[in-house]
Amino acid sequence: MPILFAFPKYESFARALESPGFSHGTLSIKHFPDGESLVTLQTDVKDKDVILVCGLDDADQKMAPLLFFTKTARELGAKSIGLVTPYLGYMRQDKRFNPGETVSSNIFAKFLSSLFDWLLTADPHLHRHESLDEIFTVPTTTLHASALLAAWIKKHIKKPIVIGPDEESRQWVQDVAQQADIPFVVLKKVRHGDKNVEITVPDIETYQDHTPVLVDDIISTAQTMIETIKHLNSLKTKPPICLGIHAVFAHDAYAKLKNSGVAEIVTTNTISHETNKIDVAPLFAQALEHKTN
Ligand code: R5P
Repeated sequence: MPILFAFPKYESFARALESPGFSHGTLSIKHFPDGESLVTLQTDVKDKDVILVCGLDDADQKMAPLLFFTKTARELGAKSIGLVTPYLGYMRQDKRFNPGETVSSNIFAKFLSSLFDWLLTADPHLHRHESLDEIFTVPTTTLHASALLAAWIKKHIKKPIVIGPDEESRQWVQDVAQQADIPFVVLKKVRHGDKNVEITVPDIETYQDHTPVLVDDIISTAQTMIETIKHLNSLKTKPPICLGIHAVFAHDAYAKLKNSGVAEIVTTNTISHETNKIDVAPLFAQALEHKTN
């Protein structure tokens, strides 16, 4: 029977994956005064298949604990170790944009491949990489939240138009719009810096009586959403809804987005946040059951 462990903040997500086929393990992560971490596996893992649930938002803080957890589990006799990561971080730096820069997505994928035997995630930011198999050396499974997003839109919004803020969002926007059977447009974005984003809006006057639903995979600084909303406001569209899969919300991004003229902000629970209104845990539960049977 596989044992399911959860890193801090992912305990309730792990509980939602409970099934008669799994047992639950406990672990603790403590920090010494100098910041170094101490990971303790409080459940025996000898000869067990271990599954760790841990989203990789704030990945830098988790890399050392991930290393310690997996190495220790193997030392203590774990048969295999899989990673369930609702949000896979570090996927956006998928190219050397400037000389000397790290291509983090590749290195991070190799790091995870060296620790785990398999990985299960949802909607990773695949832009220049076509699939996770290009960068991971262990088997990966990718789940998609688009059907859940489409169902939420159909249930809650009367005449929606789905809007993608940039070409990178097209894969999600198109999928969601098609599944909900509603129109969509994709805008153009130029990023001048981390917090400096320029959006151009094509003629959307045809959809003036629609409610714009901005769809993107990640909301991080929220500048992409905020700039899009500014343009929509200037075009006097109805107040838009922001729908993001991964609620990263760096620093004060959430406060800024709330004050941008948005009607509602909706995210999935791949990262725990007060805007979580779409539950992706059943997707993971189903995939895990399939994987372990
Ligand atoms: C593109 O890189 C992604 O699909 C998102 O548009 C981006 O991550 C959003 O970032 P931010 O919230 O910082 O504008």
